[in-house]
Amino acid sequence: MRFTDKICIVTGGGSGIGRAACQRFAAEGGKITVVDLDEGHGNETVALITKAGGEAMFAQANVGASAEVRAAIDATVAKWGRIDVIVNDAAMMTFTPIVDLPEDDWDKVMGVNLRSVFLFCKYGVPHMVEGSAIVNISSVHAHETTKNVVPYATSKGGMEAFTRGFSEELAGQKIRINCVAPGSVDTPMLWDNPNVKDGTEKVEGAIGKPEDLAAAICFLAAEEARFITGTTLVVDGGRLDIL
Ligand SMILES: NC(=O)c1ccc[n+]([C@@H]2O[C@H](COP(=O)([O-])OP(=O)(O)OC[C@H]3O[C@@H](n4cnc5c(N)ncnc54)[C@H](O)[C@@H]3O)[C@@H](O)[C@H]2O)c1
Repeated sequence: MRFTDKICIVTGGGSGIGRAACQRFAAEGGKITVVDLDEGHGNETVALITKAGGEAMFAQANVGASAEVRAAIDATVAKWGRIDVIVNDAAMMTFTPIVDLPEDDWDKVMGVNLRSVFLFCKYGVPHMVEGSAIVNISSVHAHETTKNVVPYATSKGGMEAFTRGFSEELAGQKIRINCVAPGSVDTPMLWDNPNVKDGTEKVEGAIGKPEDLAAAICFLAAEEARFITGTTLVVDGGRLDIL
């Protein structure tokens, strides 16, 4: 199995794509730290993994908060001794035009979607060894977006630039970092989006399952992707036609 005894931290592991990634890593032998703000959902993921014969623990954290990120990393290292994989999946959206957007909301989106990536890299990488991998969950919105979700699109564009840049700093340690950019995926985040509900954001064509994204995430995290770093894999069923 590709992840036998590999230590995998997955943020946003309580729902949707993050949960599917946790389950797939665990099914392939990984030991999982499920990080989420939502304690009930995070523990539910741990229970699903345990019931299937896998190993997982829950660490509650707001991924934008440094002390909470460090606590999740410390708990993982205290239990298992190192980190092999980090998946930065947790994210949030706002739906307000820029001129009406409260400054706090801008900061919150950047904190949850982008600062989190910096924090997990800054504090996680010192516990990673050669062959480890980081996978950041971007979005097609980094490339083609709609009105009223500019902070979200900005955070995902920043994430992709961070990934390209940080791959250079990681090259010497033989640690890889990549993004997966999903299109429309059948999760609460998609169906709670008012732009999707009112048709501003046209969810055209295929809608993916969380498992479709988990397959791509696990591929990029695995040894077989050893020649891939600093890039973005778009997994959107053909939604984007600009790349
Ligand atoms: N679903 C889609 O159509 C879609 C499309 C493109 C990109 N994405 C991206 O995929 C990723 C996962 O989205 P999803 O659709 O599975 O969403 P989801 O809503 O099903 O799950 C997101 C999880 O993140 C957690 N979370 C939110 N804020 C957090 C915080 N501050 N700290 C810790 N945990 C927090 C939530 O509790 C939830 O469990 C996100 O990065 C999202 O931007 C999703």
